[in-house]
Amino acid sequence: MAARLIQKILKSIGVNTSRFGQERLTDSTVHVKVSTAPTSARGFASGSRKVTLIPGDGIGPEISAAVQKIFTTANVPIEWESVDVTPVMGPDGKYGIPQAAIDSVNTNKIGLKGPLMTPVGKGHRSLNLALRKEFNLYANVRPCRSLEGYKTLYDDVDVVTIRENTEGEYSGIEHEIVDGVVQSIKLITEEASKRVAEYAFQYAKANNRKKVTVVHKANIMRMSDGLFLRCARDMAEKYPEIQFEERYLDTVCLNMVQDPKKYDVLVMPNLYGDILSDMCAGLVGGLGLTPSGNMGLNGALFESVHGTAPDIAGKDLANPTALLLSAVMMLRHMELNEHADKIQHACFEVIKEGKHLTGDLGGKAKCSEFTNEICGKL
Ligand SMILES: NC(=O)c1ccc[n+]([C@@H]2O[C@H](COP(=O)([O-])OP(=O)(O)OC[C@H]3O[C@@H](n4cnc5c(N)ncnc54)[C@H](O)[C@@H]3O)[C@@H](O)[C@H]2O)c1
Repeated sequence: MAARLIQKILKSIGVNTSRFGQERLTDSTVHVKVSTAPTSARGFASGSRKVTLIPGDGIGPEISAAVQKIFTTANVPIEWESVDVTPVMGPDGKYGIPQAAIDSVNTNKIGLKGPLMTPVGKGHRSLNLALRKEFNLYANVRPCRSLEGYKTLYDDVDVVTIRENTEGEYSGIEHEIVDGVVQSIKLITEEASKRVAEYAFQYAKANNRKKVTVVHKANIMRMSDGLFLRCARDMAEKYPEIQFEERYLDTVCLNMVQDPKKYDVLVMPNLYGDILSDMCAGLVGGLGLTPSGNMGLNGALFESVHGTAPDIAGKDLANPTALLLSAVMMLRHMELNEHADKIQHACFEVIKEGKHLTGDLGGKAKCSEFTNEICGKL
């Protein structure tokens, strides 16, 4: 009975349960062909490729337009296919992502996404979560690196957080037991844990990184984080060339603000990754500068990590850097490295000069002025 209930729950969040109960998942069942951006994407290098663009809400359309302008100036050989992901009601009466948007991502297998608004406490499901589940985007990758010319407390941050993106505390399995008592289930599976651990080691190898740290609280959550930790340990044995260490989440937070150089690549369950990656973004200048990529089994979606910034939306004040650097990550994934280098260099030059910075970086420039400066450098 309990087993059937769990199978139902797992199925509802897209976990393949067909083999459960028959045999334990073996390495071969979870061994996924992960795309280790930026170096090993396949088949993108030649000709013009279509890329799905989800401009998003709030400042999303402004910063998306900035990225498109910069890409046009740099003659990047891609064609944008802009889609709207505003939920529509399906035949079953439930709201979901429009089929046209799903088809576009499934066909193009690569997309760039602006921020999407999630109404709080109204029973709405996050559209970001829905996209991650729909396209099985199992690993969220966020490189955080100090930028020359933009002074923060630290000059030498260079860490990459890799967050499990599909389950854990964000499984979306919540219910009310009795009036005034609610329960939220943190779901950890061997399949997803091994998949993200494998991605972390492959990423480290492909990007000449030296060390992978698994971040956990297995001392408290012995079963769930214990399983995640075990999967990371098992994977570490297959990559003896990469140093491996295990650290508690609280220790990592402490060390990260004291000496970020202690860390290189970090891999962790969903909620820890959400929080720690924002903290790392804070070390290098904030969310307006931090890119990210969501790697999936059948494609990848790149996005800025900040939200819709409703306080400055429509005022031409947003910093487009995070989305632009996410688009640069996307270009590397597509093996368009020359274009990626050129755009990244132009963007970093404008930040380094410090004359045309947006408000979040202490400047007075508008989004359009900052964008024009980058285009000028190209
Ligand atoms: N990935 C996503 O789509 C995503 C991520 C986080 C939040 N959200 C959503 O965004 C909405 C607003 O969230 P929030 O206010 O907590 O966070 P937020 O990131 O939108 O804003 C926090 C602060 O940072 C500033 N900011 C953010 N991005 C900026 C940029 N590019 N340039 C300049 N300043 C920038 C904002 O002006 C604001 O002061 C919510 O509906 C939330 O659910 C979406």
